[in-house]
Amino acid sequence: MSHHLLTVDSLNRESVDYLLRVAARMEPIAQRRQVTRVLEGAVLGNLFFEASTRTRVSFNAAFCRLGGSVCDTTGFTFSSMAKGESLYDTSRVMSGYCDAIVMRHPDQGSVAEFAAATNVPVINGGDGPGEHPSQALLDLYTIDKEFQRLGKSLTGAHILLTGDLKYGRTVHSLIKLLSLYDPLRITLVSPPGLEMPSKLIDLVASRGHRIEQCDSLANDFADLDVVYTTRIQKERFTDEMNESFQGLSDDFMVNRDFLDQRCSQSTIVMHPLPRDSRPGANDLNVDLNGDPRLAIFRQTDNGIPMRMAIFATLLKVDELIEQELRPVRWYVPTQTGTLDR
Ligand code: ASP
Ligand code: CP
Repeated sequence: MSHHLLTVDSLNRESVDYLLRVAARMEPIAQRRQVTRVLEGAVLGNLFFEASTRTRVSFNAAFCRLGGSVCDTTGFTFSSMAKGESLYDTSRVMSGYCDAIVMRHPDQGSVAEFAAATNVPVINGGDGPGEHPSQALLDLYTIDKEFQRLGKSLTGAHILLTGDLKYGRTVHSLIKLLSLYDPLRITLVSPPGLEMPSKLIDLVASRGHRIEQCDSLANDFADLDVVYTTRIQKERFTDEMNESFQGLSDDFMVNRDFLDQRCSQSTIVMHPLPRDSRPGANDLNVDLNGDPRLAIFRQTDNGIPMRMAIFATLLKVDELIEQELRPVRWYVPTQTGTLDR
C-alpha cells in the first residue's frame, strides 16, 4: 500500500485482505466496548469541498476513536481557496499542521494533485466522478462480514450494481476492488447514458469475471447475492442532461416487490448513501426499512472500523492496537438505531 490512499489502483489482494483483518481487530473499539489512545497527539485535517455526512463524520470519529484530534474545513466559502489559493499551496500549508489529511473535492484528479505536494498521508474522500476508495473498502468489508454471517463465499458470487454507474464514484472504486478477487458474476443495470465507463468494464472482464449489462431491473436475475444501488448523481450532470433527464422510471426501483420477486432470503441490499428520498427520485425504497436483507446501516457502521484500519495502517500503529486497549466507561446502548436487525 502506498503512503496515500488516492485510488484502489494502489491496492492489491494482499493489502486489501490485510486492511479487512485490521478492520476486524478495530471492532471492539468501533462498537464502543474498548478504548485506545494509539494516535494520541496526532492531528487529522479533514477538508471537504463537497457535501458529505458519512465520510466527513466517520473519518473524524475514526481518528478520534484512535485517540487523535481533528481540524476541519467545509466548503470553498470558508477556505482560502475562495481567495484563489491553489491545491498545491493549500496542501503544503496543511502538511505543516496535520499528520494525515482526508480531502473531498468536486474535480476528478484534484485529490491526487493535492497529494503530490505533501509527504503527509492523504486519503481521497471522493474526487468528483473519479473514486471513493475508502467507501469501496468498507463496502467490501460489509460484503465479507455479511457473507460470513450467511455462510457464503465471495468466489462466484453474483453482484448487481445499479443506478448511476457513470458518475457514481463508489461503484468505480468498488468494481475495481472486487476484480482483485476470484471470478465473480457482475450485472450492471443503469439508465441509458449512465452506464459504467467501458474502460472499467474491460478491466474487470480482462481479470476473468463474467460481466453483463442491461437497462432495466425488470429482468429475471437469478441468484443475486448482493444488490448494490446508487443515487443518480444529478449534481454532476451537464445542463443538457439536466433538461433531458426525467428521473428514474419504476424499472429501476429497488423495493420490497423487487426483492420478493427476484431475490432470495439471503440477498443483501447495499447503498453507499445518501438515498434520495424526494418524490420521483425512485432511489432505494423505504418500504425495505426493517427488512433484515437491508444492510445499509450495517454498511455505514462498518465505515468506522475500516477507516480506523486505514489510519492505523497509513500511520503505522497497526501493530500497537491490542497493547493499548482499555474498557469504555460510559453508557452505550446495545443497539444504536431503532431499525437495527
Ligand atoms: N456519498 C457517496 C459519494 O459521495 C454516494 C453519493 O453521494 O451518492 O460518492
Ligand atoms: N457514502 C458517502 O460518501 O456519504 P457522504 O456523501 O454523506 O459522505
